[in-house]
Amino acid sequence: MKKLEELHISVIGAGIIGGALAEALSAYCKVTATRRQIERINGLGEKGVNLTTDNTKAASDADIIILAVKPSQVVPVLRNIAEVIQGKMVISFAAAISLDIMQKAAPECRLVRAMTNIAVKVLKGYTLFSPAEIIDADELELLESILLKFGEIQRVQEQYLDVLTAMSGSGPAYIFTVVESMVYGALREGLPRKLALEAAAHTAIGAACLLLETGKHPAELKDMVLTPGGVTIDGIYELEESRIRTAFMKAIGAASARSRVLAETAREQAWGEING
Ligand SMILES: NC(=O)c1ccc[n+]([C@@H]2O[C@H](COP(=O)([O-])OP(=O)(O)OC[C@H]3O[C@@H](n4cnc5c(N)ncnc54)[C@H](OP(=O)(O)O)[C@@H]3O)[C@@H](O)[C@H]2O)c1
Repeated sequence: MKKLEELHISVIGAGIIGGALAEALSAYCKVTATRRQIERINGLGEKGVNLTTDNTKAASDADIIILAVKPSQVVPVLRNIAEVIQGKMVISFAAAISLDIMQKAAPECRLVRAMTNIAVKVLKGYTLFSPAEIIDADELELLESILLKFGEIQRVQEQYLDVLTAMSGSGPAYIFTVVESMVYGALREGLPRKLALEAAAHTAIGAACLLLETGKHPAELKDMVLTPGGVTIDGIYELEESRIRTAFMKAIGAASARSRVLAETAREQAWGEING
């Protein structure tokens, strides 16, 4: 089994996520990136990434293939490159398209389904992944060494990936909304914009690190900030009156429902393409 440094990895679909993955990997190994409108790839050439519109050649030249196209493109792309990816590991970052569908489109390859989020752009992604059963221990080790280049990782059962797409894949948008709201609050109180934004973002980072490093429940940590008769409890009272927790529960519920509908639609479309 080759080490990461000896690999050639091709990223098919160098858009927002694929471009970030290709850039991250270019520091460690040979990388090729593809998209149809190749003139829209920014900055990757300067990082030493080979650029091409030819998915088949990119897949043929590579040891490992990363798929970062939109879900509707996964089956057509896989079918197009199926012959040249036999026996190779293919890691799909597309939402909704399950391992069984991909296996049907490209039966001879060694598949992994992954979900990450936009924080991969700063190597702080959270990548959840489900390997097909065929992936052996050596491949798993190599896979993890690749995914760790994008941030933190967690192996999960595939059945959880649609909800995780709605919670963690979409998650940065929720956190940005929270940070934006805090900034607006501070602007109303006259804080300079840059200071407000930095204070809100660092507060979010600090709170997240505290949660992860202590392993304590959010309610327990929140209680440490709530001095009786103090400042924070007045803020929390307003948030509770706005039913903030219900709002977030409804948001995750709505996004999960949408994620499941998209997965079902993608599934029907993919089976149609495979069988027709
Ligand atoms: N954005 C996120 O925050 C996020 C988070 C988690 C997961 N994802 C998943 O990541 C995947 C990519 O999302 P994205 O936001 O990065 O979308 P995106 O920016 O639209 O990237 C998709 C790229 O695929 C390229 N492409 C489409 N068809 C292709 C083909 N046949 N051959 C080669 N390249 C092709 C597109 O470029 P051309 O049109 O020029 O070919 C585009 O650059 C999606 O499946 C999504 O579910 C995204």
